[in-house]
Amino acid sequence: MMGPCCHARLLRFLVIVLTAAVATSSPPLRQAADQTGVLVGTAVRPSLFSEAAYSQTVAREFSLVEPEDAMKWWVVRRNQDSFDFREGDEVVRFALAHGMHVRGHCLVWDHNNPEWLTQSNFTTAQLSHLLHEHITTMMKHYSRQVFAWDVVNEALDENGSPKDSPWYNQPGIGFAGKGTAYVEQAFRWAREADPHALLFYNEAEGEGLNRKSDAIYAMVRDFRERGVPIDGVGLQMHISRLDLDTAAIGANIARLTALGVQVHITELDVSLPLDPANGQVREEDLLRQAEVYRGVVHACLQHPGCTAIQTWGFTDKYSWIGSHSHQTRGAALPFDRTYKPKPAYDAMIKELAARHGMKP
Ligand code: XIL
Repeated sequence: MMGPCCHARLLRFLVIVLTAAVATSSPPLRQAADQTGVLVGTAVRPSLFSEAAYSQTVAREFSLVEPEDAMKWWVVRRNQDSFDFREGDEVVRFALAHGMHVRGHCLVWDHNNPEWLTQSNFTTAQLSHLLHEHITTMMKHYSRQVFAWDVVNEALDENGSPKDSPWYNQPGIGFAGKGTAYVEQAFRWAREADPHALLFYNEAEGEGLNRKSDAIYAMVRDFRERGVPIDGVGLQMHISRLDLDTAAIGANIARLTALGVQVHITELDVSLPLDPANGQVREEDLLRQAEVYRGVVHACLQHPGCTAIQTWGFTDKYSWIGSHSHQTRGAALPFDRTYKPKPAYDAMIKELAARHGMKP
């Protein structure tokens, strides 16, 4: 029987060996994913492209990028009368230069909106006009450049009911109290604006089987039955549990793709608790984290309709988890702060490599 001290030492040794193996020998993620039919992506911040290690890693590893914030209302619509496309355009330019797809994020959300929008007393008619104009202008500007849009983000609460939002009921665009009718309106405007783009509903905490994912499923089924244009569901996957039920995620992907829509894993990260004394993570947790990454990739690859796996950033140097958790959690991404691949990266590579040629 191994004592706790030897156990810890063995784990440390395994982490070092795994990290070294990854750093030297494996093909990049995008190459490992090449024959699987799945895009591998990351959220990016264009202000960081000037950091060589940052942009080199993105270009080498990923076939898909999504602006973490650069296409959101609070960046593009700093004022009401104009659109500022500069940051979003930088992401598109980077992607074109490196043969990558771009996902657009996001057109309708109750967060990350400018104050002029949320703190003024617009009427329903004015808000409806503003949203229609926003969806149309954004999608036309990025037509044939953004291949898939998160049209609506996080519209539902944990019980599956529509959340309060300027677009739904405060005062809303004209469908307050009518369930997902405002979501439907946004998708209809989106299809009109750019018939080439894939239209996604993106959601948090509806990855496995629960009331929220049941509500997403019911909404998508209803939209499909009535011909409301929707092409996919984005499952965010901000994971904080290391005992994640990946079988439930697989079952959810199965039922969604059976409706004829695609699934993208859109914001994968697996945050770890930080030791308050020194900000470090337990090495054992890095291995458990790798297992979660492996499980998510596995769940996606088992379903031909799951067509993209994207992480929310890629290096622990730049991740939203730190500020979001008030520095209590971190180390959520596949590369460490020095851009060295972690066991999570190796797990993704291995799972992708094992699936070569298994998808159409
Ligand atoms: C986060 C970004 O990572 C942060 O930079 C920003 O300050 C707030 O938004 N779900 C989403 C993303 O759909 O847009 C959020 O991104 C994370 C949660």
